[in-house]
Amino acid sequence: MTGLADKVALVVGGAKGIGLATAGALAREGAAVLLTGRRKEEVDAAAERLGASVHGIVADASARDDLERVVAEARRRHGHLDALVLNAGLSEPATIAEATAAHFDRHFAVNVRGALFGLQAALPVLRDGASVVLVGSIAAGMGVTPYSTYAATKAALRSYARSWAAELAPRRIRVNVVAPGPTDTEMMAAVPDDMRQQLIAPIPLGRMARVDEVAAAALFLLGDAASFVTGAELCVDGGMRQV
Ligand SMILES: NC(=O)c1ccc[n+]([C@@H]2O[C@H](COP(=O)([O-])OP(=O)(O)OC[C@H]3O[C@@H](n4cnc5c(N)ncnc54)[C@H](OP(=O)(O)O)[C@@H]3O)[C@@H](O)[C@H]2O)c1
Repeated sequence: MTGLADKVALVVGGAKGIGLATAGALAREGAAVLLTGRRKEEVDAAAERLGASVHGIVADASARDDLERVVAEARRRHGHLDALVLNAGLSEPATIAEATAAHFDRHFAVNVRGALFGLQAALPVLRDGASVVLVGSIAAGMGVTPYSTYAATKAALRSYARSWAAELAPRRIRVNVVAPGPTDTEMMAAVPDDMRQQLIAPIPLGRMARVDEVAAAALFLLGDAASFVTGAELCVDGGMRQV
């Protein structure tokens, strides 16, 4: 039992990929779920697909006003949140020489600033004892060229999780990171074929993760089974960074 039945969860960046799979897993556990995404058609389709307990809100995960509006809607509908998944993230290649200020700002605005202000907006409605999951990446602990800016954002998230876990411990709010390795999603579909093969080669289990496998790890951290786990990172990487 995850203990998530009748709980209220918000998945920021939940209209596709890992976020959508996590929203679906939460809904199947009996949670009421709010999910966000930037495109109305995608958000509506996701919410409709997942059923009546799921509500979609169009919002940009990097925009503070949008995050506050999303939390206001959660408060209006349910009064509180028990679970928060900060999943939105982007990843674009650039070598040191190619990196521009816009490249840097785009990554940090979505992957890091969005997580900080998502949590800040949610804090007043997060119940004591709530659980927060940040979707990081095993890239946080690796040298990943030409995705060094992306890797740096995920390292920042890993660091934030430790400090946020410490800061929120008095309220028994747990903060953990799910760190996927290469996972078969839309984000990965944009990666050139030769790089996909290069990514799979060092994975001991010989394939990419499925989104449901990452969602299962997030569900574990969100649920009662992880009641004494905080500030931790759970890697879902087929052993890529472990063996
Ligand atoms: N796929 C992998 O191999 C892999 C590996 C490790 C970690 N991750 C992490 O897992 C998370 C989910 O990724 P995914 O693989 O499921 O990719 P995805 O299908 O492309 O989803 C990316 C998510 O991030 C949001 N997002 C992207 N760019 C954005 C922007 N500029 N502004 C606001 N939101 C933006 C998207 O929201 P919209 O719906 O608004 O576009 C979407 O919810 C990300 O944090 C990613 O870094 C993925």
